[in-house]
Amino acid sequence: MDYNNILCEVKNKIAFITINRPDKLNALNNATLTELKKCFTYIKNENEINAVIVTGAGEKAFVAGADISELNKLNAVSGQIFSENGQEVFNMIEKLGKPVIAAVNGFALGGGCELALACHIRLASDKAKFGQPEVNLGIIPGYAGTQRLTRLINSGRAAEMILTGDLIDSHEALRMGLVNNVFKGEELMTKAVEMAEKISSKGQIAIRMAIKAIVACDDVSEIEGQNLESSMFGLCCGTEDFKEGTSAFLEKRKADFKNS
Ligand code: COA
Repeated sequence: MDYNNILCEVKNKIAFITINRPDKLNALNNATLTELKKCFTYIKNENEINAVIVTGAGEKAFVAGADISELNKLNAVSGQIFSENGQEVFNMIEKLGKPVIAAVNGFALGGGCELALACHIRLASDKAKFGQPEVNLGIIPGYAGTQRLTRLINSGRAAEMILTGDLIDSHEALRMGLVNNVFKGEELMTKAVEMAEKISSKGQIAIRMAIKAIVACDDVSEIEGQNLESSMFGLCCGTEDFKEGTSAFLEKRKADFKNS
């Protein structure tokens, strides 16, 4: 598929999406969001893709936010639509049904931090910087940052980031639970691929059920979540993968999952 603002390639059942506007620090303009939507729709429907890694082109940025030259033209009505459009794309990433890993290689600001938050796992380079600096522009996060950041980390720390607009480095992000791990810049992609390959080596029906149940946690009550978990657990028990996984353990051999 041809894109102008992102790169998407699939290797060994892993899709690599690179936001590719390095001269604008990979700022998300409307065209980029549209391409992301198209690309994630393809990935959702492509059974041969098991996991996704999202990163930014160049040395400096993951994504430095929504494109401020486009933000500058918004009014009250178009601003709401702008926010809803971004939320729709990021919700699609969160609800993809396949694991999405953010490999945060540099600035993850505003919409960039929100993009990382919509991914299921965040790995960061030691040079990455995170922030929600929208208040400096007279706005608030609009791609669900007020919601996802507050749920992910301590609400006081989320309020501090959103209200001051201050940036934090990747070690601080690790301390507050915003990222899963921090690696040297040159190791980041290797570590992300290792994790994606490990996930990809498991039975994919179980992986997809697990990610759905994890994501549902934000939307449903504890009891609804547990009911969902039981249903999905039951579905897994009806698969060939379940027979293979349990038999392989008992026979002391490596499981050979067929995803059926
Ligand atoms: N939207 C549009 N363009 C952006 C951008 C954004 N969010 N972030 C960076 N750019 C552009 C700059 O305008 C500049 O373009 P130019 O070379 O045509 O002038 C280019 O990317 C490089 O950015 P620059 O500011 O020169 O780099 P820097 O190293 O001095 O500073 C940042 C890096 C990230 C601190 C700074 O670019 C910044 O504060 N960006 C905006 C962050 C933000 O507010 N994001 C939230 C938006 S909701």
